[in-house]
Amino acid sequence: MSIYKIRFGTPEEFVPTRFAPKPLCEVIDGLPAGITIDGKMTRRGVCLTMPIDGDAGVYGFGLQLRGFQQRGKKKTIRSNADPLSDSGDSHAPVPFFVTTSGWGLFVDTARYVSFYNGKCKRRDTGAHADAAAERREVALTTEALYAAVSAGADTVMTIEIPFAPGVDVYYFTGKSILDLVSQYNMFSGGGCMPPLWGLGGFYRCCGKFNEEQVLDIARRFREYDIPCDILGLEPGWQTCAYSCSYLWDREGRFPHPEETVSSLVEMGFHVNLWEHAFTNPTAPVYEALKPYAGSYEVFNRGLVPDFTLPEAQEIFAAHQKTLCDMGITGFKLDECDGSDYTGGWTFPDCEEFPSGMDGEQYHNLFGLLYAKTLLGALGERRTWSEVRNMGALAASYPFVLYSDLYAHKDFIRGTVNAGFSGLLWAPEVREGKTAEDLIRRVQTVVFSVQALVNAWYLDRMPWEEFDCIDEIRRLFRVRMQLIPYLYTAFFDYRATGKPPVRALVCDYQDEREAWDCDDAYLFGDAMIVAPMVAGERERRVWLPHGVWYGFFDGKRYDGGWHTVVTDEIPVFVKEGTLLPLAEPVSHVTEDTQFAITLRAYGDCSASVCRLTEDDGVTVGAPMRVLEVCADTETVDSVRYRIAGHEHITG
Ligand code: GAL
Repeated sequence: MSIYKIRFGTPEEFVPTRFAPKPLCEVIDGLPAGITIDGKMTRRGVCLTMPIDGDAGVYGFGLQLRGFQQRGKKKTIRSNADPLSDSGDSHAPVPFFVTTSGWGLFVDTARYVSFYNGKCKRRDTGAHADAAAERREVALTTEALYAAVSAGADTVMTIEIPFAPGVDVYYFTGKSILDLVSQYNMFSGGGCMPPLWGLGGFYRCCGKFNEEQVLDIARRFREYDIPCDILGLEPGWQTCAYSCSYLWDREGRFPHPEETVSSLVEMGFHVNLWEHAFTNPTAPVYEALKPYAGSYEVFNRGLVPDFTLPEAQEIFAAHQKTLCDMGITGFKLDECDGSDYTGGWTFPDCEEFPSGMDGEQYHNLFGLLYAKTLLGALGERRTWSEVRNMGALAASYPFVLYSDLYAHKDFIRGTVNAGFSGLLWAPEVREGKTAEDLIRRVQTVVFSVQALVNAWYLDRMPWEEFDCIDEIRRLFRVRMQLIPYLYTAFFDYRATGKPPVRALVCDYQDEREAWDCDDAYLFGDAMIVAPMVAGERERRVWLPHGVWYGFFDGKRYDGGWHTVVTDEIPVFVKEGTLLPLAEPVSHVTEDTQFAITLRAYGDCSASVCRLTEDDGVTVGAPMRVLEVCADTETVDSVRYRIAGHEHITG
């Protein structure tokens, strides 16, 4: 397991490593023996070529909602809010990929890089098929035609980095995809650590609600006894939002913001505020920000701050600091991805920012630099915020991605894919077309990194439309049961880079079935989640070798393919797992002590369950991991107590 660095030409000034935290791992200069990457400076920029095994799987490139296995495809990774096809456009494009051949590659650039993933053949290399292959059968569909004559064993990996006079490339080696991805995350500064409350339920209120309506939603959560930790306010808290004033609408919807926030906090909610960076002339920071902004406006006269500059960060963060001081603990940093397809907003790629960065580079770095600005304002307080654009080396950022798109299957694929590139993604729930649709979506989101319901355009809670409040309550209670388990998965993310949610191929690449599995994922080390979407009465689920148990029904499964028929979300737990299940609480406080039932799956005589304890809210707070066994009766901990034991035998 190692990381190697090689330089071609003279790299550009604005590259992801410049803004990243210090790597938490060694980097060796030069490539390992026997590995070559050809690099050429061309009139189009840098062009890299390298061999790739004939049958290697390729994964990554950031939050790819439309594609999973990238072998044989061209991906141009561009920041874009509404990718229309499997082209590489993404809310969070990342120039990093991993292969099943024990290596991965990070290209340190903020350009719209094109990756030809074993898609093209070089004339003088590779084992070409002999001429007899030309006598192949005549294909009568375009699919069959191109499958027969294109990608194959003699293709290479070709990477084109436009405009750049040079680039640094990091070559990762490792024995599995999990190794490669974990190293990339450690290279990015280690995985982020959420506050404990961040793992609870999260509800975003309708954008036009006034303070009374928001308080009413808060009260209703407690009355319905649906667990919820975070309430988000959408644009209406501000006097104007497209572009943003960052001022409470005191004469309209929010006459008493301080009291409102205090009341919500007293009811046990964390408050999250929506904003974006495009700054309206009425914003108090506008004049000071002008010299540190781009030359184009976005939305209604909105300045685009150049967050590369410390001055812009400082001036802009002033309003966030004020809001944090009144009790706000999270933000939704919207619209920083830009769109080529919806509406006329965003700045062009040819924009010239005061720092010297151009629009193309800023599109790929905007979300990350915006998030960094906010972290400065939050200081020592941990957050679990949202952002709609991220990029390279983002693992240490406690920000979860989301989208305006809404295809449930794409959302599941996003959940599977995000972990390849140090990203977090919430398959957020908005409305349901039917109760079944709503429930299927809630099932997925409670098994993700952020249990988010984004009701930004809904007058009523989406489950009030249907008679399913009991079911929704039950699902959010399941989420609360899993907080201790998930918290330790995040502890590992921070300490080792291992993503808490990841594709099956990360851990099980020796089993070929895992290679194409884009509709099931690991949730922590011990659970496999295989969501279902509305209209599906049953689904096929592949489980890796060994023995697994249904999380909801305790049924025993051997590795292999199964047809599962259930209204429940199919979730499986690995044999030998000692799962810590908490008695659900309505929300997490700093003093919460979880009553844990240790549920043993199969033979757990040698198993250990790890529980992570810290203050749950402070950046860098000391952490302790307690280890308990199947027969442990008591633990010396303020955060946990053992309340019971269960044994699942199938
Ligand atoms: C969108 C965002 C939505 C919602 C909306 C409010 O850009 O993706 O989730 O916040 O803005 O105007």
